[in-house]
Formats: sequence, C-alpha cells, structure tokens
Amino acid sequence: MSEQLRANFEKAGQGHVFAFFDDLSPDDQASLIKQAEAIDLAELRELVDTLVLGNGEHHCGFEDMKPAPFTLLPDNGGDQALWDQAKNIGEEAIRAGRLGAFTPAGGQGTRLGYDGPKGTYKVTPVAEKTLFQVFAEKILAASRRYNVEIPWYIMTSTGNHDATVSFFEENNYFGLNPDNVKHFAQGTMPAVDFEGKILMSGKGQIALSPDGHGGSLRALVRNGHIDDMKKRGVDCIAFFQVDNPLVRCVHPEFVGFHLQADSELSSKACVKAYAGEKVGVFVERNGKTEILEYSDLPDELAEATDKDGNLLYRAGSIAIHIFDRDLIERIGTGADAGVKLPFHRADKKIPTIDDAGNPVEPAEPNGVKFEMFGFDALPFAKNPVVIETARDEEFSPVKNAQGVDSPESSRQHQLRLFAKWANDAGLNVATDENGIPAVEFEVGPLFATSADQFREKLTEQGTVDIQQGTVLN
Ligand code: UTP
Repeated sequence: MSEQLRANFEKAGQGHVFAFFDDLSPDDQASLIKQAEAIDLAELRELVDTLVLGNGEHHCGFEDMKPAPFTLLPDNGGDQALWDQAKNIGEEAIRAGRLGAFTPAGGQGTRLGYDGPKGTYKVTPVAEKTLFQVFAEKILAASRRYNVEIPWYIMTSTGNHDATVSFFEENNYFGLNPDNVKHFAQGTMPAVDFEGKILMSGKGQIALSPDGHGGSLRALVRNGHIDDMKKRGVDCIAFFQVDNPLVRCVHPEFVGFHLQADSELSSKACVKAYAGEKVGVFVERNGKTEILEYSDLPDELAEATDKDGNLLYRAGSIAIHIFDRDLIERIGTGADAGVKLPFHRADKKIPTIDDAGNPVEPAEPNGVKFEMFGFDALPFAKNPVVIETARDEEFSPVKNAQGVDSPESSRQHQLRLFAKWANDAGLNVATDENGIPAVEFEVGPLFATSADQFREKLTEQGTVDIQQGTVLN
C-alpha cells in the first residue's frame, strides 16, 4: 500500500480505516486502497467540521424572502396564448434534437422497501409495466412523434448499476436504441460517526453511500455525457425522478417556457394542497430563486395567505426540472469553487463494525450520511423559470409502501387520469365521485401521453373499446 495514502489518513484522524489491513487478502487490500483513494479528505474534513461537529446549521433569515413567481396554468387563470406559444417553441426545439432526458435512479428506496432498483418496480394498474418501461415508452413515443433521437441518461449507484443495466438488456431497452440510453453510476461518500470518524462496514469496507441526486451534475461531467450532449446538439435535459409514473418526460410547453426565457434551470410546481403539506416551496431570497424545504418554512409563513385567501407560499416543488447543459457543466466540473452544491447531513442507522471487527447493527442512528440535492443548483442558475402543473395530471410518486405516495395511491391516480382523458375525448367511462373508473383500464404511453394525444388517437381510430382489463398500446 502506498505509505503516503496511509499517512494522509493518519494525519486526517482517519487512520483506523486501515486497522485491519494486514488481516485482509491481497484482493481485499487492493479494494480498500481503491475506496480510500477515491475519498477527498479535505472535502470530508470540511463537511465534518461544518455539518457534524460544528455550526453547519445555516440560519438564513426570512426578512428578504417572498414567494417565487410562477406561470399559472390556463385553467387556473394563466394566459392560454402564452402556453400555445411555448408549445410551438418547445416542439420546434424537440424536433431539432435539442432535448435529452435524465433520471437519477441511484436512490436506495428504503421507504418503499423493495428489493431491487426502484425503476424495476411494477407500477401500472393493468399491464403492470415497470417505472423504467413507462418512461422508456414515453421517450420512444416522443421520438416517433418528433422524428428525432432523444438520449436518455440514467444515473445508477454502485449498488444497483449492474442490476439496472441487466434489466434494460433483458427487456431489449423497451424498444429504444441502446446507443441512446446511457447508464452510469453516481459517486459515493463515506459515512462518519458523530465524532466525524469514517465508519467501516467491514474490515476492508468503508461505509459508502450514494452522494444524493445532486451528485448527478458531477457524475454527468465525469462520465463524459456533457461531451455526448454537445456532439448530439442537446443543450437541455428534462430531469425527472425514478418514482413518478405520471411525469410528462417530454413536455413541449415546459421546454418552450425554458428556452423562451433563456433559463438555465426551469421547474414545475404544483399548488400545495394544504398549508402543512410536506413539499418544498419555491421562494425568492436575496434576489435568488430557491426551494425551501418544508421543515425550514416556519408555520406562520406556511399558513400565511394572500389577499385572495390563497396560501402565500403555495408553489410546491415536485422535482421535475429542465437543466441547461452549460449549468450542469459549470457546477459539475467543480472548477469554480464558488459554484458548488452544498452537502446536507442525514442521520442514519449505518451497519458497521466494532473495535474488534465484529459486525454491529445499530438500533438507533449512529452516524451521518452526506448528500447533495439537485435543486440546490437553482441559486446558480440564470433566469430560473417556474411553471404550474396539475397534480392529478403529473404527480403521483411511489415513495412509501403504504398510504400517501404509495403503489396503491399511484395506481388510483393513474386510473383516474386515464378515465379523464377518455371522457375528455367524448367516451363515456363511468367513474365514482373521485373520478376512479368502474372498469380498470390502462393507456400506454405509445397510445397517448396526454388528453390531446388521446383525442387525436380516437379521431384516427374512429372508436376505442374500453372494458375491464383493456390496455391501449
Ligand atoms: P428519494 O429522495 O426518494 O430517495 O430520491 P430514495 O433513496 O430513492 O428513497 P428513500 O428515501 O431511501 O426511501 C428521489 C430521486 O433521487 C434519486 C432517486 O433514485 C429518486 O429518483 N436519488 C436519490 C439518486 O439518484 N441518488 C441518491 O443518492 C439519492
């Protein structure tokens, strides 16, 4: 082993990482060296000082804060002509090949408790398509409609990368050209105990975890995908999480608003359902747009209303964005020290070993993981744009095993949306008072991804027969 490496760890107070080095096999020794070499000790020291030991809490005042402006939907008082114009601009850009898609899929999905990459979870109500298949078909449908190649960058983690790639291979990339689907693993960060010491998950194993969805910016740069985008003429990417089957992956109006404003980072907002809803809100602070986490918004501000009686801070973030390629490059290269995503601290139960090297399964949080959030790029972005989207048309994530944001709630919301499209197009699908159809049927993305497309399809085909179990593809 390089003596220098060990000396550096000793000097940083992390020499215990090599405590069992001499007991390891040559392969395990090599693996430990590789893990250790990938750690930026200076960065770790700073994170420990600020977030673990010290005064990492940032006490930003709320005096200068106001709600960020957002473009209303036409149904909600917005200007239809603006949306029509945005649609034209967006369609032209998509047709010209300027849009790519991006999914961070490196999360651990602990709340869902599903064993496997979350994108392989079966989510649709009748055909039981997986999340990855839903997104793939949405991208394929748009590629066909606009006669263009749309690259899809998918960020995995070291833990789920191979399983994710195999899943795409086994399913023939769901009809997409494999050259247009780029899987790459995100970075990792070591977890530390509450004294800032790196936790070991085995004698030769540092406790590493994915560096958060914000890690996507540097991972895109590191893996050469910015160059790939440049080669293809892609200058913006639609960013959507792996857990929301309703997302409009390729949404011309959104692309249009983004380009028209020459924005570097655009976002969609849903109006909050009630004051205490646990979503971040778009705010403007010191002249910059940011997303304030719900836990940081004081109750009196969360409950404050405007002169019309609406919640003042009502534009809730649903983690759907368009990133400009240059913004990703600027942040992801880390070249400019002032343009860097901050890390956040998450206290977790982290399996580890004791001083004798025996495994320990903690019952209480015993350490800290460090994660970056993608939306922290907002304050660095020029001309940020926020547009409204309707929750029932675009947001129903699968986060929890049961209850709110669960497979069952998402299933109901998908059924409700399919019934709405069918009824808007003039079909007579019976529904209950919540809009849930009496017969369970599914509209696949290759058939339609919006009410307008459903209507087009119906006109083309004359009629569509909807019964229990129908899947339109
Ligand atoms: P979540 O915040 O829902 O986290 O991720 P999670 O890890 O998937 O789930 P829990 O909290 O353990 O239950 C939101 C999105 O960001 C991705 C996820 O895959 C999901 O698309 N993500 C999250 C990453 O790609 N990497 C990460 O390190 C964390």
